[in-house]
Order: sequence, then structure tokens, then C-alpha cells
Amino acid sequence: MTAKEQEEMDFGADSERMKKRTVEGGLLITFEGGEGVGKSTQSERLFHKLQSFGIDTVHAQEPGSSDLGNNVRRWIKRSNSSSPLAETLLFEAARAQLMFETVRPALDRGKVVVLDRYIDSTLAYQGYARGGDLKTIKQLNDIATAELTPHLTVLLDLDPKVSLARVSNKPDLFSGDTDGSGRVDNENERRFEQAPLKFHQSIRKGYLEMSKTDPRWCVIKADQAGHRIADAILKRVRRLLIDGNIPESIFKS
Ligand SMILES: Nc1ncnc2c1ncn2[C@@H]1O[C@H](COP(=O)(O)OP(=O)(O)OP(=O)(O)O)[C@@H](O)[C@H]1O
Ligand SMILES: [Mg+2]
Repeated sequence: MTAKEQEEMDFGADSERMKKRTVEGGLLITFEGGEGVGKSTQSERLFHKLQSFGIDTVHAQEPGSSDLGNNVRRWIKRSNSSSPLAETLLFEAARAQLMFETVRPALDRGKVVVLDRYIDSTLAYQGYARGGDLKTIKQLNDIATAELTPHLTVLLDLDPKVSLARVSNKPDLFSGDTDGSGRVDNENERRFEQAPLKFHQSIRKGYLEMSKTDPRWCVIKADQAGHRIADAILKRVRRLLIDGNIPESIFKS
């Protein structure tokens, strides 16, 4: 990358222009995709990058990032008999709490909020993959979030054979590529990841279908090196900050 490109990437050239734009309501950027596609890696990376540019940013993860959310996460990982509706309602309860505690207050102060999973996860998992009614899930999403739609949704798209191998305890479980990290969840219980491959393929299909319906989606191939993915995301975010209306208050003084 040339120095000029790096400068552009770092917002330097446009930061003054961006600072002049004002609008109320902050900025919501969400990360979506199946298990192990790199949502946490990339959303944290974006969070740190924006912070380093002096942009006031908050990072949170669904269904964690609140006491209720952490309990829902633990309970769902242990349970294997809940109905799609029961599961949806639990996720929505955690989501409503996260909105109340973290997301709304941050947006009200004009911050950028980067969320690792949001409404589209419920549509993909409990809707497309588990067969829950999409219309009902959309209604519940609307209730839990007071219809808060992201300004940008990054979909990290990857063949589940590859992504599951990345997070599996047994990296050779699938024939796909793996970084061999053998990552284990805190509770050592990874229910959704243990579901049949078909389930994960339905999730991927659901996400790709949703991504065609709305310009807020940015689909990125997640089989690339991490820094390439990060650059593609940053380019898109940069465009959003420059072309879209952004609140002056997201820049730290
Ligand atoms: N571009 C990449 N190439 C190869 N491995 C990657 C890449 N990005 C992330 N990884 C690795 O893949 C694993 C899963 O990444 P990460 O935890 O970010 O995914 P996730 O989508 O948040 O997963 P989960 O759905 O389980 O929360 C980690 O071991 C991470 O280091
Ligand atoms: Mg994650």
C-alpha cells in the first residue's frame, strides 16, 4: 500500500470534512455470519481502529455484554430442547437489555456502536435454520430494538466446513482449512457449532438471502487473510462516515 493510500485509509485526508457533518443519533455497525467466520476478530479490530482515529466507539457482543445476556448465552448453550420461539424470546430479552444498558445511551451521545451479532442473527439461526416464522421474528426484533436498524451490516461469508474447523476442538473434524487454534468456549459447550453441517449451510444461505434485500449489507469473503478483510471493512466504514451524515460528537475532542 502506498503512503497516500494508507493516509486515505486512516481517514487523514477527509477527517476535517467528516468533522463538519452533523446529525443526531450516532452510528450502528453490526457484524454477522456463521460460527467462526471472524466476527469477533474483525469487530474488535474495527473498534480499536476507530478509537485510534479519535472516534468515540463502543463495542458489544450479543447475547453477552450484559448480565442477562451472559445468562441467556450460558443457558442456550446448555439446552437442546428449546423451541425456536422460546429461543427467540430469550435472545430478544437479552437484546432489549443490551439496547437499554449500552446501545441506546451510546447512540444518544452520538457514538459509533460496533455490535458482534444483532437482529439478523436471530433471523438466520432461529428463522432460516431452525424454521421459526420470519415475520414473527422480525416483529420481535422490532419490539426488542424499537426498530433500530444498523447503518451498516458486515456479513462475513464463509463455507461452514472452513469456519467450523477454525473453532472446533478437533481442527481435523472437517476437511477444510483451519488455523488449528482449537479454540474452546469458556463453558466448553458450543451447541450451535455441534449442529449438523446442513444447519450451518442454512444459516449461510439465510444470511446471503437477507443481504440481497437491503443496501445496508456489505458482504465480504471471509476466507481471505485477516488484514485484507479489515481493509475492506475499513474502506466501507470510511465511505459511510464521509458520504453519510455523521454526528460531530463521535469525534473525541
Ligand atoms: N481471516 C482469518 N483466517 C483464518 N483464521 C481466522 C481469520 N479470522 C479469524 N480467524 C480465527 O478463526 C477463529 C474464529 O474467529 P472469531 O472468534 O473471530 O470468529 P467468530 O465469528 O467470532 O466466531 P463465533 O461465532 O464462535 O463467535 C479464531 O481462532 C480466529 O483466530
Ligand atoms: Mg465471536
